Amino acid sequence: MTTAVSTTLRQAPGPRGTPLIGVIPAIRRDTLSFLMATFRTYGDVAHYRIGPLNSYLISHPDGLRRILQEHVRNYTKDHVSYSILRRVAGNGLVTSQGDFWLRQRRLAQPAFHRQRIAALGEMIVARSESVAERWAQAAAAASIVTIGEEMMGLTLQIVGNALFGTDMHAELAGVHDNFNLLSKQLVERFRTMNLLPPLLPTRYDRAWRHATAALDRVVYSIIAQRRSQGGDHGDLLSMLMLTEDADTGERMDDTQLRDEILTMLVAGHETTATTLTWAWGLLAAHPEIAAKLQAELDTVLGARAPTMADLPNLRYTRMVIDEVLRLYPPIYILSRKVIADDAIGGYRIPAGSATDFSPYVTHRHPAFWDDPERFDPERFTPERVATRHKFAYIPFSSGPRMCIGNSFALTEATLILAHLARRFAPALPDGKLPAALPLITLRPAGDMAMRMALR
Ligand code: HEM
Repeated sequence: MTTAVSTTLRQAPGPRGTPLIGVIPAIRRDTLSFLMATFRTYGDVAHYRIGPLNSYLISHPDGLRRILQEHVRNYTKDHVSYSILRRVAGNGLVTSQGDFWLRQRRLAQPAFHRQRIAALGEMIVARSESVAERWAQAAAAASIVTIGEEMMGLTLQIVGNALFGTDMHAELAGVHDNFNLLSKQLVERFRTMNLLPPLLPTRYDRAWRHATAALDRVVYSIIAQRRSQGGDHGDLLSMLMLTEDADTGERMDDTQLRDEILTMLVAGHETTATTLTWAWGLLAAHPEIAAKLQAELDTVLGARAPTMADLPNLRYTRMVIDEVLRLYPPIYILSRKVIADDAIGGYRIPAGSATDFSPYVTHRHPAFWDDPERFDPERFTPERVATRHKFAYIPFSSGPRMCIGNSFALTEATLILAHLARRFAPALPDGKLPAALPLITLRPAGDMAMRMALR
């Protein structure tokens, strides 16, 4: 599209990095600082090399609109980050592309319709109640609670229940440990551009194979359980297992089923769990905001548990979640491969290169956010949202590849926070918010160990 104007385009500025490896050392040392420093020093379009890969960090919302919406076909998932992810998630909804992706997306969509999500409220609150019971005991003993782990367990049970009709209770600890291991290795492999298949007889590769095999066993047991039950349960699993291809009349094979189920389990729990984990930390660090939240919960709920019908009145609770997702977007970096030459912000974006974009960085863009490091849920009043650039806030990405689970996640996070914050006041043992640890998602270092006092 830009060949006619490309001679007038500028070369984007950026850090030179080290010969051959480019900026790999800086990314390995501290990814978030690297991204922020690159944006602050070089601006909305910055160029660097990650090993052999020419990459452009695009931080202005106009650039994101071009990549994610206007010229979306030019920015594909043929990027090395997805090649590595495919080793775990296969060809599921996050990693697949083209007509195949579109067919799978249409197939899964009904499971995320508003009415289906509305039916989940009671289950979400019931699951949160088991957390509340544990926290009440911890409060009585004045012991520390590892919030990160608690939220992971809770959201995994909820997504398993909502989409696959299984509560994953027995598998919880194993799934958690294996996801953790793979998550660490995925990030390391990407940051070192290690594209080799994990087939060596080393301890590192063996740990990977062991973890993927353990997750496969969980997924295949979900499939086997449903086959033995038979019938249409009206959930995502039934949609995936029972739908026949319009052309061939065939059903999805077990490998594809495995990829879709594993993708949903991964995509559908860690993201919401880290959001809630940061929410607890931020509330503890900002007592004035916690007090305002509690005032809303006292007014709207009093002494009862929340229901779906309360959501329109839990506006401040939702604004807290929105603001947590601004400061700590779980998916803090995304990348695309550039198919044909393009121009963004007056800079040349050549075919074959990569674009990176970081919700973490764009959510701190000073042209769109006042005092960006401040935790301030008031940024999300409907009036202020209406006047903001749509691509300045992209925790769920945007355009056709936007998160399929965004309403699910927001409903879930709002109900969980409302139910638990009504009863518990969080406190950080040393009063300080932990540093962010950028793995696949943006987790707090130390998993957010806190005291939860009964209110
Ligand atoms: C706060 C919670 C969540 C956040 C921040 C989040 C964020 C994202 C982002 C940024 C993407 C785009 C990924 C890419 O371009 O590669 C995405 C895609 C996706 N998310 Fe989420 N997500 C959340 C919750 C969920 C939940 C609860 C589910 C399922 C139950 C889910 C399922 C998916 C799937 C399947 C995709 C791929 C969609 C496609 O490409 O068609 N997510 N999510």
